[in-house]
Amino acid sequence: MTTLLAISGSLRRDSANTMLLRAAVALAPAGVRIVLYEGVDQLPFFNPDIETAPPPVVRELRGMLSAADGIIVASPEYAHGVPGAFKNALDWLVGCAELGSKPVALMNTSARAVHAHAALAEILTTMGWTVIAAASPVIAVANRGFDAAHIAADPALAGPLRAAIEALVLATRAEVTP
Ligand SMILES: Cc1cc2nc3c(=O)[nH]c(=O)nc-3n(C[C@H](O)[C@H](O)[C@H](O)COP(=O)(O)O)c2cc1C
Repeated sequence: MTTLLAISGSLRRDSANTMLLRAAVALAPAGVRIVLYEGVDQLPFFNPDIETAPPPVVRELRGMLSAADGIIVASPEYAHGVPGAFKNALDWLVGCAELGSKPVALMNTSARAVHAHAALAEILTTMGWTVIAAASPVIAVANRGFDAAHIAADPALAGPLRAAIEALVLATRAEVTP
């Protein structure tokens, strides 16, 4: 069984990024389990003073990532940047050598959101993770009001989402190359 951990960069209840990841959960192929992490808003502000002995919520996130074979990220762009709450979550993971070089699918829900996407690619790579290009499509669901069931049922959206998941799964099984 391959396990993928999905993390949304948006805290919004009806977030398009979260809906895309929920659709990914529904579309997981046989032998693949996709788990949506929903604790980004529970994490305290990152503080290097407690980085090595962090609170349980941080240890839980690190443990879930450690147990995952690959990661799926989908995040909105705020003012040409990465949302603060999501960047805070990533800061807790910098320097976690035990996470190793995880393959990451970096999905973009808006063709306009080029700045945050590029910044995230740089941040994740700097963290030692491997962004898999074939698993990192633009699937334009931002600002369209689609729920996860709609995304999973629309071939124009579900097709590239399925292909991205398959590319990530392949990367988890092979020598990881971007
Ligand atoms: C504070 C704020 C700043 C935003 N800045 C940008 C931006 O710089 N570029 C962009 O393409 N969209 C921007 N947006 C639009 C969001 O990225 C877009 O609505 C996205 O769908 C939100 O993601 P979500 O549905 O997952 O919450 C901004 C939205 C907010 C609330």
